Amino acid sequence: MAVILGIETSCDETAAAVVTHEGEIRSSIVSSQAALHAKYGGVVPEVASRRHLELVTPVIREALAGASATLDDVDTVAVTAGPGLIGALLVGVSAAKALAWARRLRLVSVDHLHGHVASLYLRPIDLEPPFTCLLASGGHTLLLDVRDRAWEGVSVLGTTLDDAAGEAFDKGARLLGLPYPGGSALDRLARDGDPEAYSFPVARVPGLDFSFSGLKTSLLYAVRDLPPTELDARRADLAASYERAIVRALVDRVEATGAGRVAIVGGVAANSELRASLPDAVAAPLQLCTDNAAMIASAARYAQALDSPAYLTLDAYASAA
Ligand code: KG4
Ligand code: ZN
Repeated sequence: MAVILGIETSCDETAAAVVTHEGEIRSSIVSSQAALHAKYGGVVPEVASRRHLELVTPVIREALAGASATLDDVDTVAVTAGPGLIGALLVGVSAAKALAWARRLRLVSVDHLHGHVASLYLRPIDLEPPFTCLLASGGHTLLLDVRDRAWEGVSVLGTTLDDAAGEAFDKGARLLGLPYPGGSALDRLARDGDPEAYSFPVARVPGLDFSFSGLKTSLLYAVRDLPPTELDARRADLAASYERAIVRALVDRVEATGAGRVAIVGGVAANSELRASLPDAVAAPLQLCTDNAAMIASAARYAQALDSPAYLTLDAYASAA
């Protein structure tokens, strides 16, 4: 068995996965640090790096064990090199280099965003380009024209001018008193609310770009204007209306592309209202929407592998080149 070992440490998930070259997931381990960062209301980069250092080896061990594999079965190491938190990325990149160097394996440097798109190339979905892809996560909101499985075959049609969609969910959740990261908690709370109760406007920007920063201000005012005794009773309505505004903005732009084949990936693609609003779109499986290493190993199948020792000079990058 020759398999790919994927490693992902770009933000606050320490993840490792074993994936075959045909795109079958043998194991995927994600250790979330969310609880560690919750008390700060967001990811603290230095805390994340230190936790990645502690977790990266046990998580890799668990991924190998879960796949009933050993390092003898691995022929390729795939690692997220960016974009993300630089200290966090360096932990994964260093671990990948050390493993590849010790075992004389090939190493593939993967762009995190390519990884999210490549979550669609794993079995059983195995989606074939061309398609239009909405990538919505905590750090990015991108509308992509995917012509090829290689990252070079993907171009950006639109992006956010300010906050990412996931960031809008997280900031809204915080205003509603939900713990960090609030996206999935807001999703759950919204199911009990009336999405028409409040009208939260989303800025209309030209072309296929997005803007979410004004939205959280309208929620802030709505929350502030409510007597504290009423806030609790209206939280679900506020959540549902706020979620509706974000989802409408995303769906509007997707529809404006006129694309016949649409796919959605990234943490926000786990949102139930978004999934329901795009019933014909191919959505990444829930466990592959939020950060994981299976998608990184998947992307490595369509990227250039570096041979030993060329990868020793590989560096991490914080933002998209
Ligand atoms: O892709 P991801 O794990 O990390 C980044 O690459 O940023 O996305 C995380 C984001 C967070 O903002 C989180 O709140 C959001 O995805 N998210 C959701 C849901 N699940 C995760 N947002 C809305 N509804 C959800 N069900
Ligand atoms: Zn991500």
